[in-house]
Amino acid sequence: MQHHVSMLERWLAPVQPSPILRRLGSSPSPEHEIMYKVVTVIGARPQFVKAAVVSRALRSRCEEIVVHTGQHYDHGLSGVFFEQLGMSEPNHNLAVGSGSHAQQTADALVRIEQVLESERPDMLLIYGDTNSTLAAALAAVKLCLPIAHVEAGPRLYSWQEPEEVNRIVADRFAALLFCATRTDVANLEREGIRDGVFLSGDVMLDLFMTMRESNRDTSILDRLDVTPGEYLLATVHRARNTDSDERIKSIFDAFLQAEEPVVLPLHPRTAKNLERVGWYDRVASAPHIHLLEPQGYVEFMNLQLDARMIITDSGGVCREAYFAGRPCLTLFPFTAWPETVEDGWNICVDADTEKILSAIRDFAPSHQQKNVFGDGHASETIADAIVSYLDDPRPLYA
Ligand code: UD1
Ligand code: UDP
Repeated sequence: MQHHVSMLERWLAPVQPSPILRRLGSSPSPEHEIMYKVVTVIGARPQFVKAAVVSRALRSRCEEIVVHTGQHYDHGLSGVFFEQLGMSEPNHNLAVGSGSHAQQTADALVRIEQVLESERPDMLLIYGDTNSTLAAALAAVKLCLPIAHVEAGPRLYSWQEPEEVNRIVADRFAALLFCATRTDVANLEREGIRDGVFLSGDVMLDLFMTMRESNRDTSILDRLDVTPGEYLLATVHRARNTDSDERIKSIFDAFLQAEEPVVLPLHPRTAKNLERVGWYDRVASAPHIHLLEPQGYVEFMNLQLDARMIITDSGGVCREAYFAGRPCLTLFPFTAWPETVEDGWNICVDADTEKILSAIRDFAPSHQQKNVFGDGHASETIADAIVSYLDDPRPLYA
């Protein structure tokens, strides 16, 4: 315990002059004489989207250092989001790249630890459930650095999903846990995690509302020659769906049999697996399927807003379908966002060709949506809570 306290003092003593605290002559928030330093670790597409809005809120209150692990590196999965969402270049790019789970996580872990040692921040900020999230959580907890986890609490109750492992580790070690929904709060409570839990709402809604206001543009529909309200928009990338021959074929068989245009921005993992099972050319040459490179946020948001229906295995896209008011089919046996199903706007069709085709024909929500993801101000709540915590930190492990 004594050891724990001394490490805590090293990282957390906000009232003692220390290398991790800077006193500013012209603080942007005069009530906070001390400017805290937060290191944000991101690395994959959905994390750029989530960090874009939180960064904006945080930077009016704190110094933020952004670390990009390099888990995603193609321009279409990474650089385009920094450009379109007005994010500054990361301060560090760790160039971890692709690899097995162990390799990617281990490389990120070693390199994140080096950055944390050199930056000596007051807090680590992480998002979601990728291998970059896991590596950052492990690096920080071993340095007794407090962790804030955005998108805490979703559960699939399946170890088959690598994301489940990642988010459980991140939640277990986080000092601040920001939940998008009440279900997430309840999931954490069931695991005995109550301290530091905030029902912040979903930061993806903050961004979606802002971007929808100012970036409505249907030029991508013109380029594709599809009519608003008369096409299906689909994304597939989960390991469970892409790495199994049976499941990937079953899903793409449904797309091939669909009787209306299918717009399909293809994740590189899925492109590789379609090649592997020998189906890439068949899908690419189907006249009603528009196979695209991964799209930028703006193009993809507009595709969502104009789709008749959205078909996906993505956690982020399933929520955005809800924000856009489009019916959603989930290509999974279950969803981490059960509110969307309970509300009648999402249905789990798994990788079952017949179920997918029947839902494409018949699934129609019958009532207005509820407001389950907050009010679009999650990022402000998060930034405020981080500063309040750093003003008065609690022990990391009571
Ligand atoms: C990762 C996350 C997943 C998240 C998804 C968002 C983990 C375990 N998975 O899955 O939770 O939903 O990101 O999109 O962290 N590749 C490229 N270019 C890139 C990046 C990847 O071609 O810029 C290819 C490589 O062949 C790589 C494969 O995609 O092996 C998978 O990439 P990886 O980051 O390991 O996992 P994702 O499937 O993207
Ligand atoms: N997205 C995008 N272009 C695409 C597909 C998705 O900009 O071609 C965005 C989407 O709007 C959402 C995020 O990527 O904000 C979701 O990321 P992804 O599906 O890769 O990961 P998940 O949410 O499943 O972890």
